[in-house]
Amino acid sequence: MRKLFSTLILAAGKGTRMKSPKPKVLHEACGLSLLGHVLEASTAAGAKSHYVVLGHGREEVLLSLQKSGHEFYEVWQKEQKGTGHAAQVALPILAKSVETILVLNGDGPLLRSETLLSFLEQHESSKADLTLGVMRPESVAGYGRVVLGVKNSIKKIVEEKEATQKEKKIPVVNGGIYAVSRRFLEETLPKLKPSEKTGEIYLTDIVAIGAAKKKKLYAYEISPEELSGVNDLLQLAEVERVLSKRKIEEWMRDGVRVHSPDTIFVDVTVRCSSGAVIGPNVSLLGATHIESGAVIEAGVVVKDSVVKAGAVIKAYSYLESSVVREGAHIGPFARLRPGTDIGEEGKIGNFVEVKNSKLGKGSKASHLSYIGDAEVGVDVNIGCGFVACNYDGFNKHKTIIRDRAFVGSSVNAVAPVEIGQDAYVATGSTINRNVPAGALAIAREKQENKEGYAERLRARMQAIKKSKGK
Ligand code: UD1
Ligand code: CA
Repeated sequence: MRKLFSTLILAAGKGTRMKSPKPKVLHEACGLSLLGHVLEASTAAGAKSHYVVLGHGREEVLLSLQKSGHEFYEVWQKEQKGTGHAAQVALPILAKSVETILVLNGDGPLLRSETLLSFLEQHESSKADLTLGVMRPESVAGYGRVVLGVKNSIKKIVEEKEATQKEKKIPVVNGGIYAVSRRFLEETLPKLKPSEKTGEIYLTDIVAIGAAKKKKLYAYEISPEELSGVNDLLQLAEVERVLSKRKIEEWMRDGVRVHSPDTIFVDVTVRCSSGAVIGPNVSLLGATHIESGAVIEAGVVVKDSVVKAGAVIKAYSYLESSVVREGAHIGPFARLRPGTDIGEEGKIGNFVEVKNSKLGKGSKASHLSYIGDAEVGVDVNIGCGFVACNYDGFNKHKTIIRDRAFVGSSVNAVAPVEIGQDAYVATGSTINRNVPAGALAIAREKQENKEGYAERLRARMQAIKKSKGK
């Protein structure tokens, strides 16, 4: 059985190149902060606890950590004197029971939990004091170069700023991930000295110190894609592209039909069941679940919503914190705002906005309407141009439309108001009193026809035009 391990996540840096007031590790990629991705992957790989080194933007990062639900311990590095210094500050805080420590950068969100597992497995089976994640990227610029010994052992890491011309040509670099025993850290960290060139204390120097003591130090190669970190907004976009692509490919392997996958944007938190169909240019965000057989047409945005089996969301609709039940049809060009629940086989058509409203099974609003703060029963028909007048400038009020009521076109319901079961509301009515069950409500001006008036009016207008023309 594998030994328990804890993570030490280095996240105190400023992230100057992001050109953003937000701490770097809080920037989001596919719905999760960079730090959140690191926590998720290492938790999935079995991390017992997380020690997170905080400095720049400490309070903001702390808040986000508290919200994340992960169990963590804070290591407060008041002054950022380098990665080695960060580890020195952390060492006395690590619980005595922590034997294996996985050191990770907080800005590397692409590491997969499976890779972490294999990495840790090698660390265990080789009985190493330290295992280093290395890579061979296309460009080695900026990375620490790894000087290898025999049989995958490592002798030292040379930071680029310290490297000789010859060392700079080394193709193997430090990926910033280390599995290390607590004892090894206790023996080496106190010996670190600041660099003469930069004044920084480098964590990477523990390798040379360990090698001099004949410790077991090994390299483990990982793909550059998984080790690439985020330093600026260009790399953030690239990382996001990779995360989104991974997710969509996973869905396709599971039987989700995705049209034009390169045009789709998904958060890692979204679930999509086999048999769903996703059209081009779709965004699926947050805690969204698309169930089996649901169809999401082109250009749709779904955020924090559930689309149940067999429902169809037609092109260019926007859904937020809503539920669309089995077999319902939404859109095209519909908007479901938070708190909306559309019943089975229901229909919300083009240019209909629904907010904080529940519609029962089979109820329909097919065109150009606003349904806000309403409770609508089953098999209700809402005509074109219905408006729930829910707001009086101070408070929001409720509209209730009971089962099987028929609401004609261009009806205003001045809330609070209730339309009873099986009632009928005539087109063009403004309803501000309750309509009893089974009643017909007509609330509009009586029509008057003036016989022959149109012809007389036309003659008079033409005479005026002629007199002006002269
Ligand atoms: C580091 C490695 C380099 C490696 C590269 C991989 C060192 C000295 N160098 O370089 O060999 O190739 O990562 O990405 O370790 N941090 C703190 N406190 C500090 C300084 C940094 O918590 O005082 C954190 C940063 O927030 C960041 C991580 O440590 O998450 C790495 O620091 P960074 O300055 O980005 O190191 P690199 O120069 O990239
Ligand atoms: Ca870095």
